Formats: sequence, structure tokens, C-alpha cells
Amino acid sequence: MKIVKTIVELNQLRDSLFGSIGFVPTMGALHDGHLSLIQESNKSCEHTIVSIFVNPNQFAPNEDFDNYPRTINSDLEKLSSLNIEVIFLPESQELYPESYKNIQFKSDLFHVLEGISRPIFFKGVCEVVARLFNIVKPTHAFFGDKDFQQLRIISEMVRELKYDINIIPCKTIREQNGLAMSSRNEYLTKDERNKAKIVFETLQYGLKLIKSGEKKLGEIYNKLINKLSSEPIITIDYLTIVDYDTLKEFDNRINNRFVIFIAIYIRKTRLIDNIYE
Ligand code: PAJ
Repeated sequence: MKIVKTIVELNQLRDSLFGSIGFVPTMGALHDGHLSLIQESNKSCEHTIVSIFVNPNQFAPNEDFDNYPRTINSDLEKLSSLNIEVIFLPESQELYPESYKNIQFKSDLFHVLEGISRPIFFKGVCEVVARLFNIVKPTHAFFGDKDFQQLRIISEMVRELKYDINIIPCKTIREQNGLAMSSRNEYLTKDERNKAKIVFETLQYGLKLIKSGEKKLGEIYNKLINKLSSEPIITIDYLTIVDYDTLKEFDNRINNRFVIFIAIYIRKTRLIDNIYE
């Protein structure tokens, strides 16, 4: 496991690798969700490269860039037991020197769901992921379903910009109580983490309702919002059911494969989750 901070060092190591290269980009504060992506890469690729970079461009000024958990020592310890060829830990100036021109990729998907609450988020994500793809030159890249919209947008970017990279979706890893693992769970107290399980319970309830034949959106939203708001520490940002293929909202009835998305706040901590079948 080699740890490098510069593009020059990474290039040297990358040039010595042959065969399939799996890439797992992260922002650190690693948990079992991240580690599951690395395990997937280990299973299907000959080499695995992991990056840790808290990307300033995907945080709005009012968001938690400064407070985002940075736990590099324990991250490296967690990674040491996995089969990783290179860990890339770039500084901002390394990825974004003044002369660097970002890609101009845009998508309609930037402006739905997360994009409404976080207008600059996906532009920042695509910029950094494209930059990392250009440096790491992986054959495969692994992304979590937990960030379903991010995964979709990156797949679209790869198609449109003609990157020769297989994007591999990986299932959401959850705490025992169902709460989706997230670096931001670190902000919550034990009691809040326990109460946050209602997010996944609400998603499961929604799935069950729809599968049992309820298709009227109004009815479903009423029931799900009632359930989610029965936990007083939760403030709902959005609870939205969209078409699985287009991520567009249905009119009045669910008439296609669907995904239920939830974004909530517990105090200032924002959490997202989704469910589909
Ligand atoms: P980060 O939140 O660190 O997540 C890195 C990867 O881990 C993403 O693909 C994310 O979907 C996946 N992941 C997070 N929680 C997960 C869980 N509970 N189960 C399975 N996978 C999970 O997403 C980002 O970083 C950034 O936007 C990034 C893509 C690195 C660009 O900066």
C-alpha cells in the first residue's frame, strides 16, 4: 500500500500497473460503506486505487466543508488491512493548480432532487471526479447507491465524455438499525443516530405501500410524511418519489419503476437515503 500526494508520483506508480484498475474516490472519514466499495474493487479488479480528498468545490459556503470529519490516521489504519495498491491523498493545489481548466460537463440531473437543495454540488462532484479519472486512468470505478443521483450523473458523464471506464454501482451499507452509513453520521449523538433509523423505516414503508397496490402519489406522500415527521428531531428537506429511469416526478400516480428519495436534517446535519426495487 503506497501513499502518494502528488500527480507525478501517482503517474509513476500507475504506469507500472497492468491489467484492470479499480478506483474508489472518497472524501475520507471512512466507514464500512466505503470499505465495501474497495472490497468490490478487490473482487473484480487486479489493482485498486483509493483517493481521499475533501473537495471544496462541491460544498456551498453555508455547508460543512470546514467541519467535515477528517480522520486520516484512522482511515489509513482501516485501509491497511485491505488489498490496495495506491492511496492518493492530493492537496487542493495539486488537483486544481491556477492554470487548470475544469471540464464543462452539464446535465439536467444537476437540477433535480439534491440539486435543488445543493445547486453547485453536482458541478463540483463532476469536476473532481473527471479530474481524478484523468489522473488515475482506472478501468473500473466504484460508487455507492446511497448517493444514487451522484452515481447516475457520473455514469452519464462517463458516457457523454467517452471515458473508457466501467462504473460499478455498489449497494448501500447500513448500521444495524437500518441507518445508511455516512461520514456525516459522525455529527450525530448516539440517541440521534438511533432516532434517525426512521428514515429507512419510512423508505421501507413506502416500498411496501406501493408494492401492495397504492399508486396515488398524494396518499403515499401523506402517509410517508406523517411517519417521518412523527420523529420530532427530524426536519424534512424533501421526500420525493421519481421515475427510476428519468429521475422525474410522476404526475399523480406511480406508473413505472420508481425510487423514493429522502433528505432530512437533524439539527444542522443533513442526511440522504433512497430505496428502489
Ligand atoms: P463520500 O461521501 O466519501 O463517498 C465515497 C463513496 O462511498 C461514494 O461512491 C458513496 O456513494 C459511497 N458511500 C457512502 N456511503 C455509503 C454507504 N453507506 N454504502 C455504500 N456506499 C457508500 O461521494 C463522495 O464522497 C464524493 O462526492 C466523491 C464522489 C468522492 C467526489 O468528491
